[in-house]
Amino acid sequence: MRKCIQNDVQYTEPETFLSYANEMSGYTAESSTVTFDLLGPLGLICIDNPPVNAISHSVRQGLVDTIALAEKNPSIKVLLIMSSGAMFSAGADISEFDHPQGEPSFQKVQSTIESSPLPVVAAIHGLALGGGLELAMACHYRVAQKNAKLGMPEITLGIIPGAGGTQRLPRLIGARAALDMILSGTPISGLDAEAKGLVNEVAEGDLREAALSFCKHVVDMQLGPRPTCNRPVNDELDETEINSALLRHARALRGRTTQNLAVEAIKAASLPFSQGIVIEAALAQHSLASRESQALRHVFFAERESAKLPGLSSADAKQAQPPAIRRIAIIGAGTMGSGIAMACADADLEVLIHDNDPAALSRSREFLHTTYASSVKRGRITESVADERIQRIRSTTALADIADADLVIEAVFEDMDLKKEVFSKLDSLVPPGHLLASNTSTLSVTELARATAHPERVLGLHFFVPAHASKLLEIVRTGYTSLESLSTAFRVAKLLKKVAVVSGDGFGFIGNRMMLDGYWREAEQLLLEGATPEQVDNALENFGFAMGPQRVTDMGGNDVGTKARAQLFKRESRPDPYFVIADRLTEIGRLGQKTGRGFYRYESGSREAVPDPEVISLIEKLASERGILRREISDQEIVERCMLSLINVGAMVLEEKSAARAADIDVVWTSGYGFPRHLGGPMFYADTLGLPHVLERIRHYYGKLGHYWRPAALFERLVGTQSSFEKWDETSASR
Ligand code: 3HC
Ligand code: NAI
Repeated sequence: MRKCIQNDVQYTEPETFLSYANEMSGYTAESSTVTFDLLGPLGLICIDNPPVNAISHSVRQGLVDTIALAEKNPSIKVLLIMSSGAMFSAGADISEFDHPQGEPSFQKVQSTIESSPLPVVAAIHGLALGGGLELAMACHYRVAQKNAKLGMPEITLGIIPGAGGTQRLPRLIGARAALDMILSGTPISGLDAEAKGLVNEVAEGDLREAALSFCKHVVDMQLGPRPTCNRPVNDELDETEINSALLRHARALRGRTTQNLAVEAIKAASLPFSQGIVIEAALAQHSLASRESQALRHVFFAERESAKLPGLSSADAKQAQPPAIRRIAIIGAGTMGSGIAMACADADLEVLIHDNDPAALSRSREFLHTTYASSVKRGRITESVADERIQRIRSTTALADIADADLVIEAVFEDMDLKKEVFSKLDSLVPPGHLLASNTSTLSVTELARATAHPERVLGLHFFVPAHASKLLEIVRTGYTSLESLSTAFRVAKLLKKVAVVSGDGFGFIGNRMMLDGYWREAEQLLLEGATPEQVDNALENFGFAMGPQRVTDMGGNDVGTKARAQLFKRESRPDPYFVIADRLTEIGRLGQKTGRGFYRYESGSREAVPDPEVISLIEKLASERGILRREISDQEIVERCMLSLINVGAMVLEEKSAARAADIDVVWTSGYGFPRHLGGPMFYADTLGLPHVLERIRHYYGKLGHYWRPAALFERLVGTQSSFEKWDETSASR
């Protein structure tokens, strides 16, 4: 049993409370996730449900039982609810959402606490999120650690707070502030919570000590229970305020509907509590059953699952325990090397960046200073934190200096011979067992591994631009890569706060393969057949993509895409018949935003994409050269063809075992390529469309448009057995 609160914090009972503590009667009542101890007149209830103290059915039962027991003991004058481990609670147990809640329900727990004749105090450390905060709000008083984080992240899962959060939060901090907290999903600090009235006291030092003193004060002053539900809501929301709050969060909530339910629930807080709570329950149930919520919960668990290898036994995992990582060396101080250096410095790692060109190192230094200065200017970090991070990144022109690195990430020019030479040198410099990673986006990692005497320690770490901010990290595994190396790569991803997905070493790995052979290929084809760049981009943005393909191309640089595609198709020794427009734009110097012209025009200093008739003429010319008769194309056809081709290639990626799970593909696309999270990723989306329908439409386009629409064999198999990608994943561990 872990000690309430943290294992590593030693505490002493406060002088004032010693008399209570000395009277300990030895009375305890325990459930598997909730313990109860008597400290004189104080009943200490401790939630102990690792790893995040989710309020599972067992916790709810434990809480109701212990409170009932405590109320029978006349010597108890106050109850204190705390938690062991790193946090108070991450909220309701999300893994239970697909089943009926079961008694005692959340509402039952809250009303048991709130109506208790004993005053109940919550002591919050680490995180109090969602149902965790709702539990604390049902208590009569709250004490929080100064740097605790209190928040209602339900909206990120497509649900509204359904355990009284929309009713009690407005009663504690006001309806306007509650609306903002619930729509943003962003937690606030203990200090901020005190200022807003969400907590009664902030603990500067040891939380347990502060909470015990607070309880003593409640008893001594006979403050008694103070049910939150009896408080009035002190402000009212009008439609203008609601609309402006919705507008503030519109970007993050694009294409989503949960926010409207949240607004309805918060409005109901102005009614008597007994009525508001019923309205909240109905709206919460509605949100829970929505596709949006199913999709967002799928992505939540998929992101956590993707950092685990299917089929890896816990014994194997234990054996593959990676060594500690402290010093990272980066080879190549260009765009990617500098971004990766920042990502490592942000994670408190020591970084040594090597480049054989001193001018590249100075440029990199300049980039670091400018980017950190901009973070300071935006208020994201303080100047001293920025200075610390810059100090953590050292540079060298001597490759030998990197010999003591725990891990090396290579990011030199995209050239196989050059990279092989670098890997061969690294192999003799860096002790065996230390990971050697390449950031290549197009070359064979297997071939790089073969350039070393220890191919088992070589893998790909495919970062995305900008490497310090992008969320996704593809870990490219070759046939040689050892479990230990993979395990180290997962640890690196966790340290850098990246979402990790393992990919096979095939053409374009997972993401770029699907983009080039599917989605973007189809977008170009649609332009030749009659759509305009603006129409394609708008249709896909309305579908939910953060940005349409042509706007993305202009932002990243047309030349970058042309070069990468040339490398990739060379690797496969196959021609690239798809990107005729993009390549022609590169040829004529329309490189995108950086040259003020690409698929669109850009006024000097502006990023606004302005449609350009010259591009339409060019597309018409290219189409007529290919004998394509341009026609009117609907937005619906654009979205259907782009998404079905993406899904079809996704199925091929699974067949070829480049991705181990369909859910891994969903993670790649939602975290790295702007696929709408609330649709769950391409493979989840395919399941929601129904695989028989998807296959029928792919066959339709195959008949109409030819060979590159050949349906993946996996489709035929899944449809034939009435299966789905979700079911395919359930059996992935045994494949
Ligand atoms: N329910 C069930 N499992 C949860 C969970 C939850 N609320 N939160 C985290 N977990 C699990 C994860 O799935 C993971 O399991 P695994 O090890 O088997 O993969 C494990 O706990 C550790 O989670 P992370 O890997 O995410 O750990 P981190 O330390 O990186 O992050 C965290 C911790 C910030 C708490 C993060 O897990 C998180 O954001 N959790 C979700 C918080 C949330 O959305 N809470 C609201 C829930 S909905 C609710 O409360 C409804 C209410 O209104 C009724
Ligand atoms: P870049 O051209 O900006 O930088 C490459 C750096 O490597 C230069 O500073 C160069 O001086 C240095 N270099 C070359 N040979 C060297 C050697 N022998 N020893 C030490 N340093 C050497 O390139 P960029 O864009 O940073 O790309 C680096 C790698 O990352 C490539 O493999 C690329 O494919 C990959 N990548 C690039 C992405 C992008 O969008 N730029 C995205 C994802 C991966």
